[in-house]
Amino acid sequence: MTVLVTGATGTVGRHVVRHLLRAGEKVRALTRDPAKADLPEGVEVVAGDLTDMGTLAQAFDGVTAAHLINFASDYKPLRNGPEIVDLALRAGVRKVTVLGGWQEGTLEPAVRSSALEWTHLRPIEFMGNTLADWGERLRADGVIREPYGDRKGATVHESDIGAVAAVALAEDGHAGETYTITGPEVLTPRDKIRILAGATGRDLRFEELSPDETRKQWVEEGRLPEMLLFKVFGDDPQIGHRERVEFLLQVYGSDHEIGSTVTGVVEKVTGRPARTFAEWAAEHADGFRP
Ligand SMILES: NC(=O)c1ccc[n+]([C@@H]2O[C@H](COP(=O)([O-])OP(=O)(O)OC[C@H]3O[C@@H](n4cnc5c(N)ncnc54)[C@H](OP(=O)(O)O)[C@@H]3O)[C@@H](O)[C@H]2O)c1
Repeated sequence: MTVLVTGATGTVGRHVVRHLLRAGEKVRALTRDPAKADLPEGVEVVAGDLTDMGTLAQAFDGVTAAHLINFASDYKPLRNGPEIVDLALRAGVRKVTVLGGWQEGTLEPAVRSSALEWTHLRPIEFMGNTLADWGERLRADGVIREPYGDRKGATVHESDIGAVAAVALAEDGHAGETYTITGPEVLTPRDKIRILAGATGRDLRFEELSPDETRKQWVEEGRLPEMLLFKVFGDDPQIGHRERVEFLLQVYGSDHEIGSTVTGVVEKVTGRPARTFAEWAAEHADGFRP
């Protein structure tokens, strides 16, 4: 079978591709710019844009399974979900995984009400956000000053999202499942700093700020972790800096049962334990060194 991977050049998509290749599957990757794709040998790279149906026929031709992202640029949900599902069915696709995000677009409902065998992947916070959000500050002075240092999260290694997707696409028994994908343990920001200090051999520290101190710092200095905010709001100019600050404070200060409960999905689906944050930190330690 040929498996089409959309978002193949992205954080999760690269792992989906790698795990499918390792499982011996034939992989076709969709990208808007094949020249920049830099995908492993053996992957068939095709050009296409998920928002432009006229560019997608070749990508789906001869495909029996597909990994689908539900967003386009700036993580805005796709508006043409039903058209993509129609094209997939006409091309002979039987099975899909859909990578879900914070916003459900038109793709998920179209997939759910179709004849496709679908599996929804709902990962929680990626371990990689740590590098995007903290990398620069830890490289500079080794200190993270944030509120709510004891907030809990069962952060997930991106490779495990790819591993779950590959199994759901290549094997039977996952149709109709919605998998909340987490890491193997619940960690706080303080735990992560301790683990990163061990991985880098550096003296890294977490200094807790009160919400008011945080507000002052983030508003006045314009310093706030951007990853989550960007993925929720994109670069929408209507959403001001203060609004983003308040949103982030609210997210950090609330309990999120889904984000802080270990689900065991990775081990159940792949048969191997979910990767730990310590493993992720060892792999990415250089990103936290000056
Ligand atoms: N970060 C988190 O903590 C977190 C947690 C839960 C869920 N999520 C969800 O995970 C998803 C993000 O995944 P990611 O981090 O792997 O994304 P990413 O690294 O930002 O990659 C984006 C991918 O989307 C592709 N793409 C963008 N617009 C496209 C278009 N119009 N047509 C075709 N391809 C397009 C890009 O391909 P080309 O540029 O090559 O065309 C690229 O491969 C979002 O749905 C987010 O909500 C994230």
